[in-house]
Amino acid sequence: MDRVWIFDTTLRDGEQSPGASMSVEQKYEIAVQLARLGVDVIEAGFPISSPHQFDGCRMIARGLKGVTIAVLSRALEKDIDSAAESLKGAERPRIHTFIATSPIHMEHKLRKSPDEIVEMAVKAVKYARNKTAEVEFSAEDGTRSEIPFLCRIVEKVIDAGARVINIPDTVGYAIPAEFATFLKNIVEGVPNMDKAILSVHCHNDLGLAVSNSLAAVLAGARQVEVTVNGIGERAGNASLEEFVMALNVRRDFLPFSTGIQTRQIYNSSRMLANTIGFAIPRNKPIVGENAFAHESGIHQDGVIKKRETYEIMTPESVGRDSSQLVLGRHSGLNGFKTRLSDLGLSIPESELRRAYDRFLVIADRKKEVFDDDLYVIVSDELGHETETFTLDYFNVLSGNTAVPTATVRLRSGDKLFEEAATGDGPVDAIFNAIDRAISMTTKLEEYVVQAVTPGKEALGEVSVSVLIEGRKLVGRGASTDILEASAKAYVNAINRFKAYQSTRKGNGNGNDAH
Ligand code: KIV
Ligand code: ZN
Repeated sequence: MDRVWIFDTTLRDGEQSPGASMSVEQKYEIAVQLARLGVDVIEAGFPISSPHQFDGCRMIARGLKGVTIAVLSRALEKDIDSAAESLKGAERPRIHTFIATSPIHMEHKLRKSPDEIVEMAVKAVKYARNKTAEVEFSAEDGTRSEIPFLCRIVEKVIDAGARVINIPDTVGYAIPAEFATFLKNIVEGVPNMDKAILSVHCHNDLGLAVSNSLAAVLAGARQVEVTVNGIGERAGNASLEEFVMALNVRRDFLPFSTGIQTRQIYNSSRMLANTIGFAIPRNKPIVGENAFAHESGIHQDGVIKKRETYEIMTPESVGRDSSQLVLGRHSGLNGFKTRLSDLGLSIPESELRRAYDRFLVIADRKKEVFDDDLYVIVSDELGHETETFTLDYFNVLSGNTAVPTATVRLRSGDKLFEEAATGDGPVDAIFNAIDRAISMTTKLEEYVVQAVTPGKEALGEVSVSVLIEGRKLVGRGASTDILEASAKAYVNAINRFKAYQSTRKGNGNGNDAH
């Protein structure tokens, strides 16, 4: 079977989704899990865009062995210098340089002629090749570019030393059959194409990112750029789990292999969702709560008689044999730690004790602690040392005849911030009291609550999306008490804003890849 290389861009394109930004440590933890998942390439970030991005790339490049680490750069020497610097110490470094090739981008965004674009691309690839042996070139907005021009630039950058040629569907415009023909024309129109690997990077604006990636593989692409849970700019990128499982399940029609350990898929998905605070839609293929649930009587009857009547893959094959009872209040620290490591949840020793104490509180309230609860506990406890505020306590007075009133106290180092406020409901009152206590002006854009596991005492997970000074921040919190989960989620969003503010202090230039 032909091998398809999985290039994961969760930490670069994925992190560009509004509200998905992560701390350097969080990015590193996700990178460790991506390596365990078996991706071939981890795109760690866009180093020139901010000191925070640079630090994340450097930490991942230095720390992760056995996997290629790519970082993004525009076709500019200063970007490539920063990319090369961030990759120092990497076992398998790759510089990924890009420039737009569509008429609309060249004329209106870059204001350059096609000849100038070719010259810049060739110069950038040569410059990058002097810094790393592996260079990838991307023709941004590739699918809206003219084929003769694409063939010309691709031929030249391969001559200049690019070993991977990526054709992004930057705006999610392609249609599968058309995209396949488009790629075949490139393969046929570039005489030295056999010296490079053809790659694709599809966005999901029309919901076709995975379909386009599969069509691309059938047309000759051997690297596919994806993200966990399909996160990414706007509607996101092709989802890793959907793409990989399509290859696995339909091996008869798609005879391609990957290095993905599919049993690590669910772990990776949960870990990312909890880290960035994006809830996974219930009907999301492979990783959504309902993806393996059979509701109709006819379906249930069929599955009981023979599973394959309504299941094209097993939940176990993607690591979803997890929702069994695993631990209880009598479980010791060692058992807790072992179960976390079985689930691929790594937690620094310094934070383990706190996570265990939290587990004990939850085990006491809820008796049965499921693996899904553990994902939440761990992501809730990670990274607290760097948080500006912690929730000290809250009190709410509410009822259908009272004006909902909340008192909260937040702590930041030795300082305490205490205030009371009323609101339309208990949650609104808590949020108003928090705003007042720390003198913040925020706008709540979204509030989602969901139960992590079944049962009346289930852990409730709250995600909020808050606008602060024009920036959208996502926060999450979990507790068996929904009001406490709400307060924690809100404080979490504010802490992310504080972290963002502190990384921007200094010299970040705020460039994004698009
Ligand atoms: O979508 C896109 O074109 C990109 C490139 C930078 C690869 O993300
Ligand atoms: Zn992209």
